[in-house]
Amino acid sequence: NMKVLLLFGLVAFALADITRFEGEKVLRLKPVLDEHVTLIKELAGSVEVDFWSPETAEVVTIDIDVDIRVPAAHVDMVYTMLQQSDMKVLIEDLQGAVDAQADNEASPRSHSYTKYNTWDKIHAWIASISSSNSQLISKQVIGNTYEGRPMTLLKLGKKSSSTKPAIFLDCGIHAREWISPAFCQWFVKEALSTYGSDSQMTSLLNQMDVFVLPVFNIDGYDYTHKSNRMWRKTRSRKSGSSCIGADPNRNFDAGWCTTGASSNPCSDTYCGSRPESEIEVRNVADFIRRNKSIIKAYLTIHSYSQLLLFPYSYTYELAADHSELLKVAEGASAALRSLYGTRYTSGPGAATIYPAAGGSDDWAYDLGVKYSYTFELRDTGRYGFLLPESQIKPTCEETMLAVKYIAAYVQKNL
Ligand code: ARG
Ligand code: ZN
Repeated sequence: NMKVLLLFGLVAFALADITRFEGEKVLRLKPVLDEHVTLIKELAGSVEVDFWSPETAEVVTIDIDVDIRVPAAHVDMVYTMLQQSDMKVLIEDLQGAVDAQADNEASPRSHSYTKYNTWDKIHAWIASISSSNSQLISKQVIGNTYEGRPMTLLKLGKKSSSTKPAIFLDCGIHAREWISPAFCQWFVKEALSTYGSDSQMTSLLNQMDVFVLPVFNIDGYDYTHKSNRMWRKTRSRKSGSSCIGADPNRNFDAGWCTTGASSNPCSDTYCGSRPESEIEVRNVADFIRRNKSIIKAYLTIHSYSQLLLFPYSYTYELAADHSELLKVAEGASAALRSLYGTRYTSGPGAATIYPAAGGSDDWAYDLGVKYSYTFELRDTGRYGFLLPESQIKPTCEETMLAVKYIAAYVQKNL
């Protein structure tokens, strides 16, 4: 009987609590007049629009691309509202695009470097990879997440009796940017498999250690696999609000919550109740503070937009090391581009995209870690956060070249 089946279906959905995106679209707006900007900000204030790029309406200005996810019920209204401004549909059928990528959830296949692995698979991978290569890799837990998952940091490098200078690399600060954790896994694999044959990797791991945090925001990442693919923040609860989580990349103690961040707990760029209110942020900040004398570079991987950003984002002021940071970023972008022609834009965060305080890059830089970079990996919006798995390999390969370029520069200038 249809009614019973339907009821079962609904109950199953309610129990699984999976957010669906039926009828939703991702649109690219191209505001060229002040009125368009005003319109977009009005829109953001009236209906719940998910800003993919930039992350909030506040930072929208003339002549930038604005990618938004629009709920089904508002698609028509948004179309009419924005008729006079230039607009194109990036993703016609968001649920279809999500489904196309979620096929690996159901079947219990094993870990793969060319798939978007679940946290459970990454967790098991961390254990097995670190035990199978004990000459080059070790692990340590730097704390637990809000929901109690262990944040395991991998240390890559030839064992040494003296403390070595190091590079810190993290992935997955934002939950929905799945290509980012995929890169950290790729990096570890490449480091281990090319040590001894690739002269640059061999020299790097002989002289330095690389700390890799494969998934920073594990609770959020797990949530994107199980409940809501478009989740960005942590999963912390806060008394006095029913909204969950804060933006970890607005929660660092760097001009905290002064610009490009929200004090509204329901916002996707909520800065948290205080700097380092998010336990994941505190765990990472504590580790870097404890090791600041040896950490020479801080690299953090996000998506999307194809950018290589460096401080500052909390101010338009140029960093003291601006010209050197720019030179290295341009060299790294050129190396990246040499493989498949992928073009990156580099520059300080505030001027290149928009001001946004509380980011890990600015915080690490002000702590004294000079070579501090934020990568925004592929693509430029065709798929956005739903980058197909077929692009994991080329994206990781080209990104390796940029990361190795920066690492080699840091090594040369120790
Ligand atoms: N899309 C990234 C974000 O908004 C860019 C980070 C750049 N750095 C920064 N400190 N805002 O989190
Ligand atoms: Zn991000």
